[in-house]
Amino acid sequence: MFIDTHCHLSREDYDDIDLVIKENRESNISKIIISGCSKDSIFESIELSRRYEEVYLTLGYHPSEVDVVTDEDLVELENLLKLDKVVGLGEIGLDYYYGKDNKNEQIELFRKQLVIAEKLDIPVVIHSRDAVEDTINILKEFDLTGVIHCFSGSVETAKIYTSMGYMLGIGGVVTFKNSNLYKVVESVGLKNIVLETDSPYLAPTPFRGEKNSSKYIPLIADKIADILGVNVEEVGLETTNNACSMFDLD
Ligand code: NI
Repeated sequence: MFIDTHCHLSREDYDDIDLVIKENRESNISKIIISGCSKDSIFESIELSRRYEEVYLTLGYHPSEVDVVTDEDLVELENLLKLDKVVGLGEIGLDYYYGKDNKNEQIELFRKQLVIAEKLDIPVVIHSRDAVEDTINILKEFDLTGVIHCFSGSVETAKIYTSMGYMLGIGGVVTFKNSNLYKVVESVGLKNIVLETDSPYLAPTPFRGEKNSSKYIPLIADKIADILGVNVEEVGLETTNNACSMFDLD
């Protein structure tokens, strides 16, 4: 059995969500944690978690939402985070890929949400793109734990995060031919890894470029098993245990 610890689920991306859930079951995916991280997706994510037993969720405002999120939205977010099946705050973080023009605003939104996570004592799911140094320095200001979603950094960075108590979310990128992520997997080992697809984005090989889905989690697990020289059942078992302990799931 596997858990997809980070994906996005919406009717805009999938015509038939019943089918997505059915295919997940057929692929041994026992639970998925969807990320409602924009004004548009938060309420749909909550609704889907009520409709499907295996759907859990994290809620939070992605850095790309920085221009539209108000302080009232953050008060509302704090209340929504107390709902049943919400297992963490995210994805939140810093994204300097498109430039640093709004860097200070991003940092402010990030910090405000980390304060909420600390107050509620829940894990965080971190999005960090071209912003390693700031992300690490800001997380160090807080007493939190969580997952570095879609980790794709260096071995050195991986070790900093794991020493701070964070797990690394490993997804389809590990299957890409030119990816160096195998070095990270080798160095941190199964005890620091959770599986994720980030679907509908970042489909693993051989579906790269197509629409991703949680049903492809076994392809990611296979690759990790290959890298570590263990069988895929062990990858499933250990990463599922990691996800359950991080997000307080049964
Ligand atoms: Ni995501």
